[in-house]
Parts: sequence; structure tokens; C-alpha cells
Amino acid sequence: MNFLNGYGNANLTCIMEKSIDNTIVRLQVTDSTNNYANSRIRANEVAEGTVFLAYEQTDGRGQSSNFWESEPGENLTFSLVLYPEFLEIRRQFMLSKVVTLGIYAAMNKYVDQLSIKWPNDIYAGNRKLGGILIENSVVYGLLKSSVIGIGLNVNQTTFHSSAPNPVSLKLLTNQHYDCEILLTELLSEINRYYNQLREGGDEDIDQEFLSVLYGLNERHLFRAEDEVFAGEIIGVNEIGQLLIRKEDEKIMEFHFKEVEFLQTSK
Ligand code: BTN
Repeated sequence: MNFLNGYGNANLTCIMEKSIDNTIVRLQVTDSTNNYANSRIRANEVAEGTVFLAYEQTDGRGQSSNFWESEPGENLTFSLVLYPEFLEIRRQFMLSKVVTLGIYAAMNKYVDQLSIKWPNDIYAGNRKLGGILIENSVVYGLLKSSVIGIGLNVNQTTFHSSAPNPVSLKLLTNQHYDCEILLTELLSEINRYYNQLREGGDEDIDQEFLSVLYGLNERHLFRAEDEVFAGEIIGVNEIGQLLIRKEDEKIMEFHFKEVEFLQTSK
């Protein structure tokens, strides 16, 4: 990738009329592109669709305060800024759906056995190819701004952190990838799904999300509050809770971190 010190920008031509423009702000090094994006938003300096792309993150953040491991220049680490002011807080998981579906759509042509592992991991088989960290600000019950941090493992072949089962495109396919091309493809797909959401396409989005949800309708072992139980994932509710039908037919609803997968069967 050709990175600039500080930042410069480039515009991607958008195919759809209503698509947002993605101005790319390239950072040689930053602690976290999410932190950087949040600070620019606080300074009121960011147009919708702006992407902060880092060659290197010194303090990349994952879900649950975990560190996000990424070798400088090997992978995609970026944050996309959106202003989904049409979305009520109770529907905020829709944003997670459209972003993961966009990543899924862009990566599906490169990788087999791709799925979205609830709540928002991109999996290839049983290994994690990428993840997202969404940080929203809310005003009067509606989303005001959203920083969507995306980490996609592209060309890195050795992982040192304790993250479970990381994998990259290169490890999966034995090929080297041009991150610029992947970024263009990812943004184009994310924009497409985001437009669909803006236009009220919730039902189709829900269905598509379910169709690629990791472990749907499969028997797995789970742990919640120190109880280990077998059950089947049957879906995700409007507020993004995972729905699991236990063997006694009882349907349980879980927020992120309230339930853990113990056994995978793919
Ligand atoms: C996860 O734990 O699955 C979420 C990982 C999100 C990582 C990305 S990399 C770009 C952006 N900046 C960060 O500090 N985190 C996100």
C-alpha cells in the first residue's frame, strides 16, 4: 500500500447513485483508527463515509477491551464513519448486520466456508478472519454517529496474541493480496447494504444475515453463567441478542459475552 505521512486522500467512484463517497484518510501510524476517527468527529471534521486507514496501529482495539493484533502493512485496519440518524438505538444491531454482510459479500469470492459468527466476527470454517468494533453516539434515542472499526487479516501468516483461531486470506489461499483492491471491494459492498438499510430493506437484510450465521440450526455446547448446555442457535432478535433453543425446547436470549460457544462442529 502506498501510505502518506499524516494524511492525504483519494476518492473512490461509487457505482450507486445514492452511495456515500468514501474519502480515504491514510495514516502511517496511529494508536487505533477508532480513536482517531472519534477524535475527528468530536472536532466536527468528518464527512459521512470517511475512512481512516492505518498502516500500523500501536493500540488496536478489539471487542471486550482486547488488543487487536495486526502486523504493520500486512492487513486492513480501518474505521468507517457513518451518520445513521434514521436508526433508533433499539435497532442498532442492524448496523452490525449490514457491515458484516458487506464484508461477507466482498470476501466470499476469495474464501470458502465463510460465515458471520454472532455477534460480528467473520469466520472461515472455524477460524476468525476479521472482526468489527462499532462505537456509536446517541442523541434523543437515535444514532448520531457511528465509528465502524474493521480489522481484516489479509497477508499476515503468524499470529502471536492469545486471540482464538486467527487466520488470514493468505493462510487460507496461499496467495498474497493487494489491500487497496480489497478495501475498494469492501467499501462498495458495505455501502450497498447500508443503502439497503436506509431504504427500509430490513427484512431482506435479516434473512440474509440468518442465511450466513455461523452455527445456525446446528447442535452446539454453550456455557452461560457456569451452566453448560446443548442447544441450537435459532436466530438473533431485534436488539441483537442470540437466540438459543435448549434441548428442553426453552428459548434463551443472550447479550454479547453472556454466552460462550464450547464446541464447534464445522
Ligand atoms: C474484534 O475484536 O473482533 C474487533 C476487532 C476490530 C479491530 C479494528 S482494526 C481497525 C479498528 N481500530 C481499532 O482499534 N479496532 C478496529
